Amino acid sequence: MFDDLISLIRSLYGTDGKIALHEPRFGSYDKELVLHAIESTFVSSVGEYVNRFERELADYLGVKHAVVTVNGSAALHVALRLAGVVADSEVITQALTFVATANAIVYNGAFPVFLDVDRDRMGLSPDRVSQFLEENAERCENGVFNKKSGRKIAALMPMHTFGLPCRIEELCDIGRKWGIPVVEDAAEALGSICGGRHCGSFGQLGVLSFNGNKIITSGGGGAIVTNDDRVANLAKHLTTTAKVPHQWAFEHDMIGYNYRMPNLNAALACAQLQHLPAYLDDKRELAGIYQRFFAESGWADFFEEGPECTSNYWLNAIVLDSESQRDRFLEETNRVGIMTRPIWKLMNELKMYAGCRCDDLSNSGWLQDRVVNLPSGVRKHE
Ligand SMILES: Cc1ncc(COP(=O)(O)O)c(C=O)c1O
Repeated sequence: MFDDLISLIRSLYGTDGKIALHEPRFGSYDKELVLHAIESTFVSSVGEYVNRFERELADYLGVKHAVVTVNGSAALHVALRLAGVVADSEVITQALTFVATANAIVYNGAFPVFLDVDRDRMGLSPDRVSQFLEENAERCENGVFNKKSGRKIAALMPMHTFGLPCRIEELCDIGRKWGIPVVEDAAEALGSICGGRHCGSFGQLGVLSFNGNKIITSGGGGAIVTNDDRVANLAKHLTTTAKVPHQWAFEHDMIGYNYRMPNLNAALACAQLQHLPAYLDDKRELAGIYQRFFAESGWADFFEEGPECTSNYWLNAIVLDSESQRDRFLEETNRVGIMTRPIWKLMNELKMYAGCRCDDLSNSGWLQDRVVNLPSGVRKHE
């Protein structure tokens, strides 16, 4: 049953050997900038490439500031803190996500509340968030509190799954209505657009990842993006050990973190950002081929971007009929060297999050049993 797809994937990647889910691509410009960073001796957390990448990334996204970090997890940790997430507060997020989203909440001493996703987008459902707030939240002088737990609801944290934009505008409307900040986990969504605006630029803060499996990579890396000057300054301060600028003195005025992106990684990031438009085109073409294949063969549904949205199609995803069909698919494709993966386990099913508050997760559970990713790496490169 899966033979036609296996042949298609082999023809797309032009190999009888192993095909990865998402391999990075590097060319001569990437090597040139990395070598230049090495020769400059500025390989750690200061250097021209850090400043250049922050400026170019902010310009690309249409935001005022980008503060780059060692990885997306560190960026999420600090972004939540800057949004006002403190110990014993709660953050509403989706149950169906990569574990880093939930971990960042706990790094801040806060409690995740796992709500359902929309079935068509796999992102936090605005309807479920509204319903949860109507039933559980009350406005007080110093914020919105969960009537049942007594904790402050400090942030909403939606995630754009596999680069497909979630209903971010509606979620921001809910955040505004209740006075709860939105921190957008756009780790997977660089280059995705919703209603003309870049994913990551909607919330009070947005977070990106440049891990080796992402659409562009700096080896390891992340970014906090914001339009707020004060928040951006504090993000930079906190991620650079809260050192007070001075030519030689070691003065630190807060407990900060050593989270800045090294210049060596930023050099690679600068080169990769130049490739992004070509990578996006290649991925769109690949997604179109998969979409037509599944429209014709009909044995699985391909995830398409929603109306008014442009996905970066970071990882292409399909929905199979059942859990057993999914398992057969994963076994057969991986046996012949084509890497495919199931979507994540729900957060509340991981042992460390087993006791967390969650609501009806019927869409998340349905998707968990059926969704798999197909090879999605960029094929064409210089
Ligand atoms: C949704 C999501 N959030 C956060 C992260 C964390 O990013 P990083 O791996 O750069 O720490 C990732 C990716 O790995 C991710 O997919």
